[in-house]
Amino acid sequence: MPTDLDGRARAILRANDRAGYTVPNGQVYPFQWNWDSAFVALGFDGFDRDRAWTELETLFRAQWEDGFLPHIVFWQDDPGYFPGPSVWAAGRTPATSGITQPPVAATTLRSLWNSAQSAGESDLYRPRLEALFPRLMAWHRWFRDVRDPDRRGVVMTVHPWETGRDNSPEWDVPGEPIDISNVGDYVRRDTSHLDAKERPTKLEYDRYLALVQFGRALGWDHRAIAAASPFRVADVGMSMILLRANRDLLALAEELGRTAEAAELRELVARAEAGIDWLWDGEKHCWCSRDLLTGRFSGFVTSASFLSFYAGLHGPDKDAAMLTHFERIGDRVRYLMPSLDPDEPGFQMVRYWRGPVWAVVNYMIGTGLDECGYSAQARRMRADTLALIEHSGFQEAYSPVDASASGGGDFSWTAAIWLAWSS
Ligand code: DGY
Repeated sequence: MPTDLDGRARAILRANDRAGYTVPNGQVYPFQWNWDSAFVALGFDGFDRDRAWTELETLFRAQWEDGFLPHIVFWQDDPGYFPGPSVWAAGRTPATSGITQPPVAATTLRSLWNSAQSAGESDLYRPRLEALFPRLMAWHRWFRDVRDPDRRGVVMTVHPWETGRDNSPEWDVPGEPIDISNVGDYVRRDTSHLDAKERPTKLEYDRYLALVQFGRALGWDHRAIAAASPFRVADVGMSMILLRANRDLLALAEELGRTAEAAELRELVARAEAGIDWLWDGEKHCWCSRDLLTGRFSGFVTSASFLSFYAGLHGPDKDAAMLTHFERIGDRVRYLMPSLDPDEPGFQMVRYWRGPVWAVVNYMIGTGLDECGYSAQARRMRADTLALIEHSGFQEAYSPVDASASGGGDFSWTAAIWLAWSS
């Protein structure tokens, strides 16, 4: 692989480093984002182990007492972003948003720990692992207690931004009951940095803001929000990612000799393994998000549907059905994995989560396929991801058709995935 790309990727991480946390992109996303940091830490780990651990430690400094870990930490204000801390009004120091994001951090922590062990630095990093472990436990318990009130083994999301796949069509129908009549006037900032055709629509933004106003009116009481939100969806992406993360946290609990926590985590894994079938859409033959208020499946094959392998689910029939989707989509586009099935009429190759490819999702899909023994498919995921970066640089996302850039440039997590996956 070309070594200048390694240097460029490291330079992007250094340039986006704000002394202890990394902004995803200096203009569009000028704060610390939760799951971005978890991927960024993987990138730092290859050339600055201490800095990799600091990324997670900084993120967890913003954790709330009940275990909740916010999706944005506003370590310093920046007028170039909307909605900023005064809109969220979460009343925290540091200022944070009031929603969370996909729980990738435990999986990253396990990877950082394995890497420290391989480098013979266990003694140095064990105290840091010991300090982070209870924080991860608290966050995962928060998911159990607040975001799975019916004990189904899936994750309830109450805002499309929590899923990370902001404007996926999965949220269109479940978003209809959101009352946008009182949202009021506001000025978006994202479309002053980026072409509007790459971003969510005004209707989607109105819904995002109505949900922020809803949470703020409830004082960001997460249990109250989960009991009353007009938007309550079991997200296939977060559900798969949490199952994976619980397995990784369990491995760390065993490593640390935390038997009580290990038993707790085993229970969570077993509950998710038993319950996640609720997200299998038998008509579509696919893992799909599902509206918790109506029981309706999204019916969309998205990149998140392929995270079942990453979650460690093994089922010959379901795997075969997913691999059939994989082959069909792989024949339709040059670069896997489009965020939306290209056979969907709503597929758009540059509009945010309605078509483009994200390197981080590819990394999770590829890792899962590899672990489950689907080596040819895993190789294609990796090769396509690296080819996109070689073709167009370190973009936020890429067209699956022609590799053209979508979203922000010099993107931290894309640089991190290059560093973690190219060598
Ligand atoms: C945004 O502002 O577009 C973000 O995705 C919210 O997390």
